[in-house]
Amino acid sequence: MSKIAIVYHSGFGHTDVLARDVARGVTDSGGVADLLRIDGLQADFGEFFDRLADADAIIFGSPTYMGTVSAPMKAFMDASAKVYFTKQWKDKLGAAFTVSGSPSGDKLNTLTSLAIFAAQHGMLWIGTGQNPGNNDDESAATDAENRLGSFIGAMAQAANDSPDVTPKAGDRATARSLGRRVALAATRWRAGAAAVPLGAIDIQMMT
Ligand SMILES: Cc1cc2nc3c(=O)[nH]c(=O)nc-3n(C[C@H](O)[C@H](O)[C@H](O)COP(=O)(O)O)c2cc1C
Repeated sequence: MSKIAIVYHSGFGHTDVLARDVARGVTDSGGVADLLRIDGLQADFGEFFDRLADADAIIFGSPTYMGTVSAPMKAFMDASAKVYFTKQWKDKLGAAFTVSGSPSGDKLNTLTSLAIFAAQHGMLWIGTGQNPGNNDDESAATDAENRLGSFIGAMAQAANDSPDVTPKAGDRATARSLGRRVALAATRWRAGAAAVPLGAIDIQMMT
């Protein structure tokens, strides 16, 4: 059974709604989800790093603040430099989701930042794998999966409404699909480790 950690920050509850949908998707695919919510004032990520050590995949979630990840998410990213030096996350799978007030809101930059972060850790990136869900006249509809047309990660729009009513059904389904997809990929990746143990490629390169 694959273990999927979901590390996220949420200032006002919208990213939290999505994180729980991602976790539902993980469970749909038979995985185990470990939700790790960053507290705004958090400085010590020791317990997070302990729990992330044995995860097969890490899904990062951040609201888009000022066109990029929120400050608490960035604090977590910077604190992970310790893990970076020991390459603990190398060959884990990675993915991300974000929410912003506007349909664009420059949130692609948030997902790009998280993908680069994962690449620095040597992780393998999983996108949505979904075609854009709503390229037609019904462009205002909120129930189509991947209605915002993102490939690099799951996008949602909060439209400055309460987390009780936004993100809406389509965006929430997109998040759930991402959880399903990552958990399935992690199960395949674990099964493949029987044929090619993790680290084998590095050893070959050294000999
Ligand atoms: C400090 C701050 C900066 C924000 N910057 C953006 C932005 O650049 N683009 C955007 O569309 N929305 C922006 N928003 C709106 C948030 O992305 C939106 O409310 C989101 O749902 C917040 O997620 P959360 O409830 O998980 O914190 C900003 C909100 C805050 C508080």
